[in-house]
Amino acid sequence: MNIGIFDSGLGGLTIIKTMLENLHGVEMFYIADTANAPYGEKTKEQIIDFSTKITQYFIDKFQIDALVVACNTATSAAIKELREQYPDLIIIGTEPGLKPAISHSHSKKVGILATPATLNGEKYKLLRDELSKQYKVDVFEQACPGLVQQIELGELDTPKTLSLLEGWLAPMREADVDTIVLGCTHYPLVGESIKKVMQRDVKLVETSHAITKRVDELCHDSMKCKNGNSLKIFSTGEISQSMIEMILTQKYYITHIKI
Ligand code: DGL
Repeated sequence: MNIGIFDSGLGGLTIIKTMLENLHGVEMFYIADTANAPYGEKTKEQIIDFSTKITQYFIDKFQIDALVVACNTATSAAIKELREQYPDLIIIGTEPGLKPAISHSHSKKVGILATPATLNGEKYKLLRDELSKQYKVDVFEQACPGLVQQIELGELDTPKTLSLLEGWLAPMREADVDTIVLGCTHYPLVGESIKKVMQRDVKLVETSHAITKRVDELCHDSMKCKNGNSLKIFSTGEISQSMIEMILTQKYYITHIKI
């Protein structure tokens, strides 16, 4: 079972980590498209272009059976086009866990942090409007331009990152938000900083387990004959080796590619 997984950078590794811990018999190929990062500040057309080229690369080089779009922004902008263009490929996307967050919240005040492109995308707006009709809840949306760049630099809890988070989170703290959706796969990497700024044990909702479960459901029959997993990491630009090691708690050799 060959699975291609991609994101604009380190973020998708937060999903790979959970996949490595819970799946068996999978060959994973990861592309960090850092040459084009951050996706969240690009146009829909650009993100569709990056996503299509990466998918084609996976098919040509590794004959993938399934694709995991380990990026909320690329899922929002491009998954429809990818499914139309590759109807035979299993394609699994990443979407903000707004529904589980609403169920979990006691105060019924839920925050969502995501990239500008995800929050402006039609997919998210439809989800939010549908859930707002079903549940009595206040949703506090906050785009975090610049946060992905801080994370790529390994600045998880530096004064600059904490000060950005303070500006974005202060209104949520004051409004008694008790649950925050991490609507970008990079953001679990600053989970501790978010809790620190919120000054409470706020519940953070990320989607790596839901995605892993979906991969298992859709790919189980092809995976069951083999035991171990393998992972190869590729990057289209600069990427922090030490951050990769910190996230996956293991050293990986990174192959630089041009797509
Ligand atoms: N990690 C990505 C996401 O889940 C995108 C980050 C970016 O490049 O802006 O949205």
